[in-house]
Amino acid sequence: MGNNKRLFIETYGCQMNVYDSEVVISILEKDGYTPCNGLEDAGLILVNTCSIRENAEQRVWGRLDRFLQEKKKRDVRVGVLGCMAERLKRELLSHPAVDIVAGPDTYRELPAMLRRLDESGEKQAETTLSLKETYADIEPVRTDKNGVTSFISIMRGCNNMCTYCIVPYVRGGERSRDPQSIVREAERLYRDGYKEVNLLGQNVDSYLWKNPDNPTETVNFSQLLELVALVAPDMRVRFSTSHPKDMSNGVLYSMAMYPNICTHIHLPVQSGSDRMLEKMNRKYTVAGYLERIEKIREIVPDAAVTTDIIAGFCSETEDDHQATLELMRKVRFDSAFMFQYSQRPGTKAARHFPDDVPTEIKTRRLNEIIELQSAISLERNTECIGNTYEVLIEGTSKRDDNSLFGRTSGNKVCVFPSLGHKPGEYVNIKVESCTSATLLGHII
Ligand code: SAH
Ligand code: SF4
Ligand code: F3S
Repeated sequence: MGNNKRLFIETYGCQMNVYDSEVVISILEKDGYTPCNGLEDAGLILVNTCSIRENAEQRVWGRLDRFLQEKKKRDVRVGVLGCMAERLKRELLSHPAVDIVAGPDTYRELPAMLRRLDESGEKQAETTLSLKETYADIEPVRTDKNGVTSFISIMRGCNNMCTYCIVPYVRGGERSRDPQSIVREAERLYRDGYKEVNLLGQNVDSYLWKNPDNPTETVNFSQLLELVALVAPDMRVRFSTSHPKDMSNGVLYSMAMYPNICTHIHLPVQSGSDRMLEKMNRKYTVAGYLERIEKIREIVPDAAVTTDIIAGFCSETEDDHQATLELMRKVRFDSAFMFQYSQRPGTKAARHFPDDVPTEIKTRRLNEIIELQSAISLERNTECIGNTYEVLIEGTSKRDDNSLFGRTSGNKVCVFPSLGHKPGEYVNIKVESCTSATLLGHII
């Protein structure tokens, strides 16, 4: 036995996986496990995985080979959690390193699965998806390093069925978490010194909670935002991801009304071509998207807008690609996450649309998108020079021990010389210069 109950967990993928790993630690701590810092000390290695693109999965297969080396040296159990566990249960079970495979809705089963594994020596797998599980009652064990910003998962799953996307298959249907449990979690974080919560969902705009005892009583996303904003005026509230087809003016009015709701909207557009948007099943047009942008700028004039873009989706032509560049020039996003299309087995696109844009062309288009975006990000940041922003300090700059860093309400990273302030404090920063990724300034 010895260090049998020491747990090491590695997390890949999105912020929701970070949150889920915290839920898993909480569940296992109640069963006597304690987290440790290196996999060499662990009696249980868990890896929480992502399936969004093929390279996300490749990385995990590489890690499993590394865990196998560890396993050859000593007695250690290995479990695969998350989206890849859901998608590739059988393949994962045949990897010699893997003892446990647990999908995203099965984490309450982990202690029992581990006990069965220990008793029988047989590999254990559980991948049932649930229409109810939200882990609402579980108090996550926070693993964020700064103690200032943290995540709260407000819903799980997704009902949208974008044709390229694996998420609905690996995360199941959408369900919204009880708002009171969300508010309690925010209050607890505030008591523990946190100054920023980030509300997470695949499509936060479709958050809708119905009281099971009284179905006429509902809470929608803008109401939830206000409930969380009221927890403490000096605790910031962020949220992601917004969906262009569902983002309501109500959410924008809540943002305008509460100074602690951050002025940043992550609004993935994916493509600037109506033909591609239709094929992706995004359910909005370029005109509809631009109308949402106009409303954002009207109701929350200083809001930063960021996005996700996919290059080289099935049958994308040069004209479709040019339309994406054109849209980027029109909207002038503050920043963007940009990807090459990666076919995911089982999705509608994989079943019906040939993945026919050659890799070299995908790469070239992606590079053009990245190049344009970094020029726009630099312009956007340059426009901040001379302005003063309230910044929440998150920690010491990685490059310089005498500098601190934090974020503006618009989520821009800001680096400035320390005057002895601590993480969690707010300071006003006058911006003097910038790069495409960072604002540089000083405290005033
Ligand atoms: N729920 C969010 C996004 C979740 S996934 C939304 O609807 O916008 C994050 C991003 O990964 C997506 O916005 C998309 O840009 C990208 N993505 C998803 N599936 C992909 C795929 N098969 N290939 C490449 N990028 C993909
Ligand atoms: Fe995937 Fe679309 Fe759901 Fe986002 S909204 S998670 S892209 S299916
Ligand atoms: Fe990846 Fe699953 Fe998140 S596929 S992006 S970890 S929901």
